[in-house]
Amino acid sequence: RTPLVVAVDGPSGSGKSSVSRQVAAQLDLAYLDTGAMYRAATWRCVQRGVDLMDTALVADTVRSMVLQLDLNPRFPSFVVDGVDVGVAIRAPEISAVVSQVATNLEVRADLGERQRRVIAVERTPDGFSGGRGIVVEGRDITTVIAPDADVRLLLTASEEARLARRAREVHGTDDAAALEATREHVVDRDARDSTVVEFRTAADGVVTVDSSGLDLEQTVQAVLALVEDVA
Ligand code: C5P
Repeated sequence: RTPLVVAVDGPSGSGKSSVSRQVAAQLDLAYLDTGAMYRAATWRCVQRGVDLMDTALVADTVRSMVLQLDLNPRFPSFVVDGVDVGVAIRAPEISAVVSQVATNLEVRADLGERQRRVIAVERTPDGFSGGRGIVVEGRDITTVIAPDADVRLLLTASEEARLARRAREVHGTDDAAALEATREHVVDRDARDSTVVEFRTAADGVVTVDSSGLDLEQTVQAVLALVEDVA
């Protein structure tokens, strides 16, 4: 049968990257973090000093980006114009402006096209390259990029849980100061992103997994159980 495609959307701090990676690793599927693609595109614009308000120049800069992906969930990597940007794209300066690039509709068209191509390769069994099946995560995968995926999930968590998780990740603690510092990067970024993509409520046929009361391992198990249902 054709290789499995699992689509996962969710807001920031929902744990979707960690969960998606582990699910892909356990099922031996490829893994694509589309948020990292938007971050890589943003990194290239920032690197070149592009004015992010100049939508035409931003779109050109993204379209000419040479992006090489390693889809191995154990060692995912992103190389832009020969530079490994895996660490650089997580910098707060990138998080702070990525929504500006991601709300550029020409950018979405270009990256969306690249994402569809990756999915098409992994969905096609050929015993040579690709054809592994894939877990793809982001904000518009279940709705726009792969609405025909075998499994479509919306991973959510309460705002409280998402803030605490991100605070621990970035600051090593979830005390009041850390929560406040994190708010801008979680709540405000989601509000900006929501102007072009809907990832707060599940579309028809999309199953919601609420991870508020679950740890990583429990969430992974919940997702694996849903995948097994269709596989
Ligand atoms: O998932 P992550 O927080 O790394 O995503 C970074 C940014 O990429 C999001 O804030 C959003 O602006 C953008 N994004 C998007 N569509 C996706 C995935 C990410 O617009 N499918």
